[in-house]
Amino acid sequence: MERDRLEEFNHWWISGKVDEELALPFKRDIYTKIEKHLNKRFITALVGLRRIGKTTIMYQIIQELIEADTNKTNILFFSFDEVSAKLNEVLEKYKEIHNKDLREEKIYVFLDEIQKCNGWENELKKYYDLYPKLKFIISGSESLFIRKKTKETLAGRIFEFILSPFTFREYLKFNKIEENEFKYETKIKPFFNKFAEKGGFPETFSLETDKDFKEYIGALVVDKIVYKDIPRMFKLDDPEFLRVLLELISSNPGMYIDYQSLSKQFGKDRRVIKDYINYLKESFLISLLGNYRKGSITTLRKKKRAYPADNALTYLYKPKIEEDFFGRMIETLAVNKLKASSFWKNGGEIDIIYNGAPIEVKYQEKINSGEFKTIKEFMKKFNKKDGLILTKNEEKEIKFEEGVIKLIPVWKWLLKD
Ligand SMILES: Nc1ncnc2c1ncn2[C@@H]1O[C@H](COP(=O)(O)OP(=O)(O)O)[C@@H](O)[C@H]1O
Ligand SMILES: [Mg+2]
Repeated sequence: MERDRLEEFNHWWISGKVDEELALPFKRDIYTKIEKHLNKRFITALVGLRRIGKTTIMYQIIQELIEADTNKTNILFFSFDEVSAKLNEVLEKYKEIHNKDLREEKIYVFLDEIQKCNGWENELKKYYDLYPKLKFIISGSESLFIRKKTKETLAGRIFEFILSPFTFREYLKFNKIEENEFKYETKIKPFFNKFAEKGGFPETFSLETDKDFKEYIGALVVDKIVYKDIPRMFKLDDPEFLRVLLELISSNPGMYIDYQSLSKQFGKDRRVIKDYINYLKESFLISLLGNYRKGSITTLRKKKRAYPADNALTYLYKPKIEEDFFGRMIETLAVNKLKASSFWKNGGEIDIIYNGAPIEVKYQEKINSGEFKTIKEFMKKFNKKDGLILTKNEEKEIKFEEGVIKLIPVWKWLLKD
């Protein structure tokens, strides 16, 4: 490890502040929670898709530490994204440069894209256990706990914040809409339509043309993850097939994953399909929902449904978005907001079961009485007294024998906590 390299990463040692292009002024909603976690001894981990703002949050925290009079040489940042290095090389060099005793001083150590550092789990554990005054803040673009080994090594030492692309609320704030304006439909709706269509990657907000948008998401998000990140983590033969699966899921949000038929369609072993889908999930590109379980399990019940992690992915692959397809993208928004893990299918189908309550997306002009059938069936069967329908415009509560069904426009619902 060269001294120059570390100094390049840690400009504040010399300048006394973080460059403004790095510590951007806009703070994400999760920021305060992360900041509070700094007082804990636990390793703070920020994980989530590429290009959603993990590194930016690290820089924002560094800037605030400096503003709060933390000695600027007690803050160390290193990114494994572009440079291959060992953790102990980094820390040893740091000690040498500043003549620090890691046992004596509180030192904040930011390790970006740590999953790229081979054997990071054991090294980190060693430092964590030996030097209680070190505070580690780490980030990763894949789930850091993918490997069983990581769990075993770092269990009880680490706390993970899972970051998503920008939420609708953040998107509005980023676009300088104040919270007290959130209730005005005519003001919010145009933003909603754009957000629902193109998703929450912050750098895309200012891209003007479709071509720029698609190039950005295609090259900097999808290609990087599919051709570089995932193959580095897992041994796999055919990264292109990862992309094919991602395209399939992104162009069919909510599709049922039928390993058998996918296996036939692509001439690949079922286990391969299963593994690849799992890689997409562990790198946060898709979410998988299972059929809500209570009652008998049939083959059909075992099929999962898959959604892309963000509508940017759907927009990337879909040449034209028709009105009724848009409803599927709204489903994606709801699934991702809730980090939902179940749907329900039993003849009829309910998009999301969340905390045991049914949620359906019906993005259409009018909802007819016949469309309450499945949700009522669910409520009756599971003795659940409340259901929710996310609508385009309608807002009301309807009382039935089975309980109360609330209708709420999805743009409004997205802005609730
Ligand atoms: N809080 C923010 N405000 C404005 N833009 C942001 C913010 N966070 C991220 N971005 C934009 O997104 C880009 C990617 O963010 P970055 O922090 O590098 O993501 P990650 O580390 O998750 O890959 C940044 O270069 C910046 O343009
Ligand atoms: Mg980063």
